[in-house]
Amino acid sequence: MTTKKNEIGKAFIEIDNAKYELPLYKPNVGPNVVDISKLYAQANVFTYDPGFTSTANCSSTITYIDGENGILLYRGYKIEDLVENADFLEVSYLLLNGELPNIKEKNDFVNAITYHSMLHEQMTRFYAGFRRDAHPMAITCGVIGALSAFYHDSTDINDPQQRMIASRRLIAKMPTIAAMAYKYSLGQPFVYPKNDLGYASNFMHMCFSFPTEDYKINKILADALDKVFILHADHEQNASTSTVRLAGSSGANPFACIAAGVASLWGPAHGGANEAALNMLEEIGTADNITKYIKKAKDSNDPFRLMGFGHRVYKSYDPRAKIMQKTCHEVLDALSLRDDPLLKVAMELEKIALEDPYFIEKKLYPNVDFYSGIILRALGFPKDMFTVLFALARTVGWISQWKEMIEDSEQRIGRPRQLYMGNVDKKFINLEDR
Ligand code: ACO
Repeated sequence: MTTKKNEIGKAFIEIDNAKYELPLYKPNVGPNVVDISKLYAQANVFTYDPGFTSTANCSSTITYIDGENGILLYRGYKIEDLVENADFLEVSYLLLNGELPNIKEKNDFVNAITYHSMLHEQMTRFYAGFRRDAHPMAITCGVIGALSAFYHDSTDINDPQQRMIASRRLIAKMPTIAAMAYKYSLGQPFVYPKNDLGYASNFMHMCFSFPTEDYKINKILADALDKVFILHADHEQNASTSTVRLAGSSGANPFACIAAGVASLWGPAHGGANEAALNMLEEIGTADNITKYIKKAKDSNDPFRLMGFGHRVYKSYDPRAKIMQKTCHEVLDALSLRDDPLLKVAMELEKIALEDPYFIEKKLYPNVDFYSGIILRALGFPKDMFTVLFALARTVGWISQWKEMIEDSEQRIGRPRQLYMGNVDKKFINLEDR
């Protein structure tokens, strides 16, 4: 299937006195797009765009971001409406299938996810191969990649039924994989999923229960975690999603592709930012240190950046950060942690940065990670689990984008070109003469 493009005219490019016509498309919303896919064949030139700041790699109907106005839509629905009115599995169904489920569709989907949440028992022994102090992201990445060694019956990417089963398995098993990585790092026995719990509650149960003592689910906290999952579920063609698409474009199986996405998410400029943001707040410690850190962030000779600030696409307040801030207050209230010193530092830092000309001019606003670390810490998660939680929630986005790509008849193997600036005429010198 290919989404029909709305061609509204031509763009022209002149190279060495020759003029080339390029199709100009109008999207349903957002800037127009010039189609340069035939430019190399026509004019023998490449385009240069490090970091893909001006390049669309695909057409998509899943997620839309208006970075100037702070708008985020999943399948056309505003993120604020979804967080307020739907739960994570409803949103997952929406991302995967294109529309919100009716009651029967939702029950069937929840049932399918619930009954895919256990891991093959042999897989649980995989964990023992990791060092006890391994980072849970390292374990998660490895175990997800290993799913393809255990679930051969859902690796044929050309079979829609197998694609659907793989998608559901990934969404269902990710909390179990993540919770087991956590339990392993603590040296505690694994806790198996419980089918009478919701998605977020079940994850908390697997992380915080012991064989000797059940964890009592606090609804406010489980709802907050569910919201955190919704806010992280998809974000169009970011680094990890593009990695999943690129890996998948070669025909790799979905488990391998999602493992690639997890690896890409790990970096501090992407999913690792929530961990880095909390580290930064701890390092700042008290409000009277803020000025010193703001100065460091503004100094171009200092590599320090305000973590949880700035975004490639949002040049206004990240709409997810606003919801996250509200949820953060709800969680801290529920736990009687209103006076949390890190929350105080975060709020003061946000206030000062939002009034500072450096941050105003560069359009640097808090992003989703600024408050999420405080929430996750209050829920009881250690810092090295933060990015794992992000990966858990983003799995549905990755798999929806992967599925869309596989079903797109325009899909080809991803193969960027380059501006080669290396040597061309080196003469070989024998080893003994060098
Ligand atoms: N603190 C201080 N200065 C910053 C920050 C920051 N957090 N972010 C950007 N800048 C400055 C840069 O130094 C640069 O200044 P210059 O024009 O004088 O060179 C300018 O703002 C533009 O920044 P770029 O890095 O070129 O912007 P880019 O779009 O490439 O980067 C990014 C976006 C990576 C998110 C960046 O803002 C950053 O590193 N933020 C901190 C890490 C973070 O919070 N990442 C999470 C992103 S959200 C997510 O992945 C879920």
